[in-house]
Amino acid sequence: MDISTAYMGLKVSSPVIVSSSRLTSSVENIKLYARKGAGAIVLKSLFEEQIMADIATKLDDHPMYYWYPRAAEHITELSKEHGVNEYIQLIRQAKDAISIPVIASVNCISAKGWPGFAKKLQDAGADALELNIAIFPFDESIPGCDLEEVYFEIIRAVKAEVTIPVAVKIGSYFSNLPRMIKGMNEAGASGIVMFNRFFRPDVDIDQMNIIFDNYLSSPVEITEPLRWIGSLSNKVSCDISASTGIHDYTGVVKVLLAGAKTAQICTTIYRNGPDVITQINEDLAMWMSTHHYQRIDQFRGRILQGKEKTGSFERIQFMRKNTGMNV
Ligand SMILES: Cc1cc2nc3c(=O)[nH]c(=O)nc-3n(C[C@H](O)[C@H](O)[C@H](O)COP(=O)(O)O)c2cc1C
Repeated sequence: MDISTAYMGLKVSSPVIVSSSRLTSSVENIKLYARKGAGAIVLKSLFEEQIMADIATKLDDHPMYYWYPRAAEHITELSKEHGVNEYIQLIRQAKDAISIPVIASVNCISAKGWPGFAKKLQDAGADALELNIAIFPFDESIPGCDLEEVYFEIIRAVKAEVTIPVAVKIGSYFSNLPRMIKGMNEAGASGIVMFNRFFRPDVDIDQMNIIFDNYLSSPVEITEPLRWIGSLSNKVSCDISASTGIHDYTGVVKVLLAGAKTAQICTTIYRNGPDVITQINEDLAMWMSTHHYQRIDQFRGRILQGKEKTGSFERIQFMRKNTGMNV
């Protein structure tokens, strides 16, 4: 049974990629995840603001941090602990320690000043770069298309600096996602990670304040990436990596059947520890054996065969006749 595959031209021994989070900020963890069978590792994101080293000014300026002040505190703390040099060092150490692809990650909201730094990440040995771009529409005077253009500008600016493949990790909040993805691909992105899971503030009704402890996903959240991967994977020419709600092999099989190249996991490692990676690989191989598949390519996108099936992912309103439910 061969569970290896390719993602943005990189050979990966498993479709299971450990996604960017605090978990991937230490060489010890990275070595452990490689040993447990991860196909690749996406390092913890470096923030554009860290690269620009003018944190205080930027944070004061940007409305996102007004709305979510804890992010500002977090970045400032991170910058103290894990500066840019430490990040370069992390890439070098990871590359020395493991043989699977190491994907550097930058969290960015503009193409101003920082993209030149991307070359340093490549020179340190990163096999690919994941741009975690999240530009939220807090300013009613800026048309949506102007915000979307920033994504393309960032990708073009970064691609002008590096030759390694660049993926973009996005959220699902776009008015026309297929057009966005086409534009990002044309700007130079070889991969799209669908989707990032943004902070979801909640309200504590006793303390009457906003709480931010809902940072891990639940398996039902897979349906959103699944819908979009299913409706787009055979229409776009870049590779799709699934993220959010993939907690076990069933999630991995689902996104592969919908056409994803790889499946990124984070919450399930927080909850179940690194052994979950080995478990998913073993269960995936078992599922393939049960269904008589030798290689992933034999079933990738299989769920989309037949026009009617692709259409199912595009359905957004409930229709009693087809839901199979008594609602
Ligand atoms: C504590 C924590 C920190 C994270 N940090 C980052 C980050 O620095 N960069 C990034 O692109 N995604 C980050 N993420 C998002 C994850 O990579 C992932 O996309 C998200 O958790 C959804 O996947 P999951 O359902 O497997 O958890 C973080 C997630 C968590 C829970």
